Amino acid sequence: MSLVKLVDLPSFGDDRGGFVAIESSQSIPFEIKRLYYIFNTSGNKSRGFHAHINLKQIAVCVKGSCRFILDDGFHREEVILNSPTQGLMIESLTWREMHDFSEDCVLLVLANSHYDENDYIRNYDEFLGSVKNKTIEGHVINLLKCY
Ligand code: TYD
Repeated sequence: MSLVKLVDLPSFGDDRGGFVAIESSQSIPFEIKRLYYIFNTSGNKSRGFHAHINLKQIAVCVKGSCRFILDDGFHREEVILNSPTQGLMIESLTWREMHDFSEDCVLLVLANSHYDENDYIRNYDEFLGSVKNKTIEGHVINLLKCY
């Protein structure tokens, strides 16, 4: 199963220009509690390098481009975001890195909860540990269901 899930955003562009309308819990599969955007970027400055315990996000490159790396602890995939009509779904417990920002990049991020520094995992080994624990927890729950 691919880690890269792109969500098509409702697009109503015409000869007057592009137009995208985003609604919470509609085209975005969660309630949007927060949004933020990254701009004035430069190609040699990468960002991210963390995972979230619970947070889900969708990233939309509304202008320019950047390269995302997503890693679930088992697989690592990359995708170039360069379309204002598509969002990249970033599930919880997914390590993300953003590289190769174009100078004109504007990256909009929609999130399903308010900012919480305690939800961050900023150390890659700690992230792998959390993935392992969650996997073991899943196996135990499945075993218990058999009895
Ligand atoms: P961070 O998530 O670390 O950004 P990146 O992974 O892209 O480098 O956030 C950068 C700073 O902004 C950090 O000090 C926390 C702060 N911040 C908020 O206050 N609110 C927010 O919603 C976000 C995403 C970050």
